[in-house]
Amino acid sequence: AQSQRLAGKKILITAGPTYEKIDPVRFIGNYSSGKMGYALAESCAESGAEVILISGPVSLSTRHPAIRRIDVESAEEMYKAATEFYPACDAGILCAAVADFTPETVAPNKIKREKDDLLIKLKPTRDIAAALGQMKQSHQRLIGFALETHDELAHAQEKRKRKNFDFIVLNSLNDKGAGFRYDTNKITIVDESGHTPYPLKSKQEAANDIIGKLASILE
Ligand code: C5P
Repeated sequence: AQSQRLAGKKILITAGPTYEKIDPVRFIGNYSSGKMGYALAESCAESGAEVILISGPVSLSTRHPAIRRIDVESAEEMYKAATEFYPACDAGILCAAVADFTPETVAPNKIKREKDDLLIKLKPTRDIAAALGQMKQSHQRLIGFALETHDELAHAQEKRKRKNFDFIVLNSLNDKGAGFRYDTNKITIVDESGHTPYPLKSKQEAANDIIGKLASILE
């Protein structure tokens, strides 16, 4: 059992991918499983917090009574839910792999095969992290994630400042067994005073490390 370090706190978590509709039967998505976000929700609830879990389409379930799950599909739906619930929360953890682009228009009928090529024009989605970073009040905390392919630490630090995160969790794609679809993760926590690397762990253990760090800055 974990200590009740987050008793009385309300934490918003975004998790999973988003699906951006192309036509009634097709979408643009990504490989995010939601495992890291769900592990974070579990860890927060075990630490005594009330959790609002805003979840994209995943095949995971939640049983903890302190987790209220809000299912969304698109980046726009996730944006609306996150901006609605964040003001009443003590902290937000933005773990979702949100689509950066979405089709400009959704075809009303299933797109037919009978043509030489198909062009789908995309428009940018709204950055949920940046929006919450702007809304953030002095009593609130905000945590983000970053997955970088090169100059990881510099990019993570730049992203942390730009989005107004208290700390950012860096996942490395260069580490075997870390990130998308795996059950393990190798993280580095980057805050204003520097960075702390952690060894390869299960996503639940990595979540406990992240929640421990969050608890220390909420106290
Ligand atoms: O800029 P980038 O997408 O790499 O930033 C990653 C961080 O921003 C993650 O915490 C992710 O959940 C969040 N994000 C978001 N809304 C977006 C794009 C990213 O909340 N539209």
